[in-house]
Amino acid sequence: MLGQKGAVIWLTGLSGSGKSTLAYALERRLIEIGQLTFALDGDNVRMGLCKDLGFRPEDRNENIRRIGEVAALFAEAGLLVLTSFISPYRADRIAAKATSKGNFIEVYLDVSVDVCEKRDPKGLYKKARAGEIQNFTGVSAPYEEPANPDVRVNTEELTVDQCVDKIVAHLKERGQFDVSDLRKEAEQEKAQNS
Ligand code: ADX
Repeated sequence: MLGQKGAVIWLTGLSGSGKSTLAYALERRLIEIGQLTFALDGDNVRMGLCKDLGFRPEDRNENIRRIGEVAALFAEAGLLVLTSFISPYRADRIAAKATSKGNFIEVYLDVSVDVCEKRDPKGLYKKARAGEIQNFTGVSAPYEEPANPDVRVNTEELTVDQCVDKIVAHLKERGQFDVSDLRKEAEQEKAQNS
């Protein structure tokens, strides 16, 4: 009915690396080409489904486990699911991939702690350095880089649009969009250019 294949597009990276910004820009692009999407991030998950969890390692394990399960269900329903969570542990991301039965694209926002700390959009790095926040990823808690992400984007070097281009190109390459969707996209481009 939807004419599309479900999948989980899993963004991982430090706080301030640009996951939510990229997810929403990517979502806009996917909608433009006729894809039904759903975005999961801290705003809609940590306030509800995971409101009982904090930031200790076991809490993060459980946070990512639940998100992996929910994302897999949405993907099974045919949606392109975009998740924006630090997801600092490699094993948790591997488990989430297994839950999605391989319909999983890991996107690593490869940006150094220094850069994220300079951006510090929520002022949390400052608080973490001052010892006001414990177990802060990149400061007092680990981030395990993906060994072999499907897509690696550096949001310091690339614009948001360029990052979106790179992810969409990868999705096309892996055959995510079927012929009818590609036709729709071409028609839209043609209409925009005329
Ligand atoms: S995860 O590690 O379990 O994947 P998640 O992505 O849900 O983390 O939440 C991270 C967000 O919570 C950060 O962007 C930041 O706004 C906030 N936060 C609050 N405390 C911490 C902390 N100790 N470490 C990291 N992020 C924190």
